[in-house]
Amino acid sequence: MTEHRNRLSLRCLHTALMGAGPESLWGIIESPLLTRGSTRPQVSDPIPLVSSTAPSLLTRPQVSDPIPSVSSTAGALLRVEHLSVGFGEHFAIRDLTVEIGRGEILGFVGESGSGKTILSLTTLRLAPPTARISGRIFWRGEDTSGWSEARFRPLRGRAIGLVFQGAQAALHPLQRIGDQIARVLMLHGKHPRRDAAEEARRLLRLVQIDDPERRFFQYPRELSGGLCQRAMIALAIAARPALLIADEPTSALDVTIQRGILALLSELRSSMGMSILLISHDLGVVAEICDRVAVMYRGKLVEEAPARQLFTNPKHPYTRLLLESAPHLPGPAKTPEPVRETVVDPIPSTGCIFAARCVHRMSACAQEPPFQDRDRHRVACWLSEADVDKE
Ligand SMILES: Nc1ncnc2c1ncn2[C@@H]1O[C@H](COP(=O)(O)OP(=O)(O)O)[C@@H](O)[C@H]1O
Ligand code: SF4
Ligand SMILES: [Mg+2]
Repeated sequence: MTEHRNRLSLRCLHTALMGAGPESLWGIIESPLLTRGSTRPQVSDPIPLVSSTAPSLLTRPQVSDPIPSVSSTAGALLRVEHLSVGFGEHFAIRDLTVEIGRGEILGFVGESGSGKTILSLTTLRLAPPTARISGRIFWRGEDTSGWSEARFRPLRGRAIGLVFQGAQAALHPLQRIGDQIARVLMLHGKHPRRDAAEEARRLLRLVQIDDPERRFFQYPRELSGGLCQRAMIALAIAARPALLIADEPTSALDVTIQRGILALLSELRSSMGMSILLISHDLGVVAEICDRVAVMYRGKLVEEAPARQLFTNPKHPYTRLLLESAPHLPGPAKTPEPVRETVVDPIPSTGCIFAARCVHRMSACAQEPPFQDRDRHRVACWLSEADVDKE
């Protein structure tokens, strides 16, 4: 324990932020986020650790360089439009446009550092304050960029639930599981105190935690990784959000437990009609339950398609590379996707983001490839344009 957050960020994976007083745990966040250029820590409101009396440390991201509103966004629950998020010279997300429909499960895939977590944080206005943000976020067709913090706040946790990466660390270590869920229910005004405990038990049953009566009184350290993940999901869905963002919900779990969590998410979609943004570095995970898949490479969306189409007919060389490393996935037999061996793989200032690793690189690739869109299958690659021309 220390008052110096810099020391924590060097030694700890996660940091609990305390204020003064008994109700003062403000939140638990990844330690590097405390100091990576930020002057003020960001606190996770959707994780129901935030005391209702704690001062808000949330800052609204600066939405600069507004772009004109584009076509209809009415059908989508959430739409991110031309979103770019930069840190200094570096872009974590570049010009991302993607949307998720009602009741849909969208898989968001990419290797580590491709901007997946930053997308989930930015969507909820929880990005680090040093982030330079441009673009727009629409909720149920409404542009939220002009919304005040007071108007935006109910989206966090209530309309959009967030399952953070690393469930065990995100749960409050000193509170019983049942109490944590009951507190969220009261915090969101969904249940009076006397009903909250009963509803918490119902949620524990809903997320298929065995022996919920006993688990209700247990602390996170007494639960396995899989049970913690289920408890975390119970917390995130307590307010019956329309959208659940699950950031790597299965990454620390072994395969059978992973399967159970994915089946649970799929069931929740069916029973509650919830949309789910499933973030993962593993195409195998999103293949299990997603309707549509978006593939990111170093902050750039390179391909997006209905899941079946993406697995049977991947078009982008990077998607093919990902698929090749998951041979058990559906689709035709995978032929090895050649890749350029590069010692240094710099992000090009112009042209295709994947060019340094791509064996198909040609002169056109010095220009950034536009999205080709066919039957809801979008791909940003000049090869794909050549295919279209041939047809
Ligand atoms: N606070 C920050 N300051 C500077 N760069 C950051 C910060 N947070 C994230 N990044 C950078 O943004 C990029 C995307 O990070 P992240 O979204 O966490 O990746 P992913 O979740 O896909 O593994 C990475 O290059 C990371 O280093
Ligand atoms: S645009 Fe060119 S460099 Fe980029 S993935 Fe396609 S062929 Fe490869
Ligand atoms: Mg991440």
